[in-house]
Amino acid sequence: MNDAQRVFELRQAIDEANHRYFVLDQPSITDAEYDTLIRELREIETRAPDLITTDSPTQRVGALPSAEFASVAHLQPMLSLANARSDDELLAWAARAERGVGGEPIDWVVEPKIDGLAISLVYRDGVFMRGATRGDGIHGEDVTPNLRTIGSIPLRLRLAEGEIAPAVVEVRGEVYLPLEGFARVNEERAAAGLPTFMNPRNSAAGSLRQKDPAATASRPLQMWSYGIGYSEGLELASHVDALEWMRRHGFRVSSQTTTHDSVSAALAACHAWELRRAELDYDIDGAVVKVSSFDQQRRLGEVSRDPRWAIAFKFAPTTAITVLRDIGVNVGRTGALNPFAVLEPVVVGGVTVSMATLHNEEDINRKDIRIGDTVIVQRAGDVIPQVVGPHLADGSERNPPWRMPTHCPRCGTAVEKPPGEVKHRCPNRACPGRGFEQLTHFVSRAAMDIDGVGEKLVRRLVEAGLVAQPQEFYRLTVDDLLALDGFQQRSAENVISSIEASRARPFGRVLFALGIAHVGDVNAQLLADAFGSMRELLEATPDQIAEVEGIGPVIAESVAGWLADPENRAVVDALTAAGLQMTGSRRATRPPAGPLAGRTVVVTGTIDGHTRESIGEYLGERGARVTNTISASTDYLLAGAGGGSKRARAEKLGVPVVDLGELERIISAGA
Ligand code: IVH
Repeated sequence: MNDAQRVFELRQAIDEANHRYFVLDQPSITDAEYDTLIRELREIETRAPDLITTDSPTQRVGALPSAEFASVAHLQPMLSLANARSDDELLAWAARAERGVGGEPIDWVVEPKIDGLAISLVYRDGVFMRGATRGDGIHGEDVTPNLRTIGSIPLRLRLAEGEIAPAVVEVRGEVYLPLEGFARVNEERAAAGLPTFMNPRNSAAGSLRQKDPAATASRPLQMWSYGIGYSEGLELASHVDALEWMRRHGFRVSSQTTTHDSVSAALAACHAWELRRAELDYDIDGAVVKVSSFDQQRRLGEVSRDPRWAIAFKFAPTTAITVLRDIGVNVGRTGALNPFAVLEPVVVGGVTVSMATLHNEEDINRKDIRIGDTVIVQRAGDVIPQVVGPHLADGSERNPPWRMPTHCPRCGTAVEKPPGEVKHRCPNRACPGRGFEQLTHFVSRAAMDIDGVGEKLVRRLVEAGLVAQPQEFYRLTVDDLLALDGFQQRSAENVISSIEASRARPFGRVLFALGIAHVGDVNAQLLADAFGSMRELLEATPDQIAEVEGIGPVIAESVAGWLADPENRAVVDALTAAGLQMTGSRRATRPPAGPLAGRTVVVTGTIDGHTRESIGEYLGERGARVTNTISASTDYLLAGAGGGSKRARAEKLGVPVVDLGELERIISAGA
């Protein structure tokens, strides 16, 4: 087989895998298998650059940052939507539409109104050529390189055997950031001292309008396609057909879009969306009702910029105005002090809200939020509500700006704020405020991964006096849970069996779950690999621990100090007795492979779109050994916002300092 044939085959296989992963949400191959395909394709393309095409899956990230976005004219204006704010307004609109088509029956389509950013994608002869924002509806901004990084946007149409692509087709839809991604991006921005995004829509817009496509690539953007604009060589009779066409040709189309032959059924579907709203992993601010038939759409036409054949049925707003009664402070697992808003209870999007997150002192003062202010509160899906900012009447009396207490609200120890960090900390390792956070960390996904035991249940278990220390999870019985409100036999059994299952988590995770300061999952794994068992680790001196490559003296002190504490020793003994894995390591079972195999990478600062854990995983999956201290043998320092001393040390030692974009290019090149 020659290179051209192999490239063709590889692209087909990769496109198929992408489609299953990003569009259908049904992954068909493992990450490692996917990486192998990509790597082979890159190798051939590096060797034979003539074979590179813009629709090659290797070209999703790789475009260089651009200075600005060019303005482009849409092939067909992008209209907006009129709103119906009540059942009556929707019914009145539908009655006008029915009159407009002379009383013919109408098929009504109901779909979610996604709160993101409207986008137009132009495909010529089946290949994605240009993508633009809506802009003013006539002209938008060309954001093609950034859109290419979104996995659910096909770089070319999926065609059936022998099918010829339409000469031109413009697919429209909404790009959005799933709520989890939104929360994560905000946490990271807050940690790096950057302003947080007000809502998922702003964060989607901000993520898409990055000058560097690699920055966009690091945000988990998604797209729902909801319509076809301009086309040549495509004959479709209705919106229902258009949705089906898009679905068949590789686009992500909501599977929950419904068609109805009566307006009352369509209205009921709108109400159903409102009820389902909080369960979605994206924000919707309404439902859209559309007349399906294109012939009827043409006859109905438009008024100013709004089509008469579609309307947005708006839901109750997700913002509300209330009074900020107080600002409280929680102590996190590692002693970080987390301020939160105590609000006059208010209903936001159907849920009563009385608390909201406030990230840190800097963020509070940047937003100029003060105790006693009337404030705007926003809630999106299940994301913890946020205080957007003050909502002040002219000349209202205000309290002075808020300051972090000088002493820990739980134990009274003087708080510290390490230079360069935005979080204040309680340095007291025995601070009682840390207990609850420690327990939730212990059960969390990246640690013991105890399914069905989340923050809420932990809180109830603590309040009921059933669990104060991690080992006590393993003593819980079905009867203990049945004694709590709301537990049925079945749900209690499920919780107990997931606690049982967690006994099998590898030693590295157990070490991470213990919540030793400075021991994130990467360091935990390094320690597990180096010592092989808890017994060896317990016997090690701080110097021996510091000898582990990647573990510096600060971490070594922290680990040794933690292990020397008799209370912690008791926890370890009890967990050992409970049957947790105290030996073995993951490394032994998985030799490093990937474009970064054999390379040592140190990470500093906040990497856009990643948590500490996810960037470690990302690098590990690509074969890199991730360590924490820079030495002459470090291959790269991956630096994000806020990294300081490591950068200086890397420069001194001549270790290349790269950002995620550069590292991705290195990975792409198969270095
Ligand atoms: S149809 C003429 N369908 O809502 C049709 N729009 O206010 C106009 N939107 O700019 C678009 N979900 O950003 C349509 N399922 C959906 C939508 C949707 C969200 C947005 C879109 C548009 C705005 C109109």
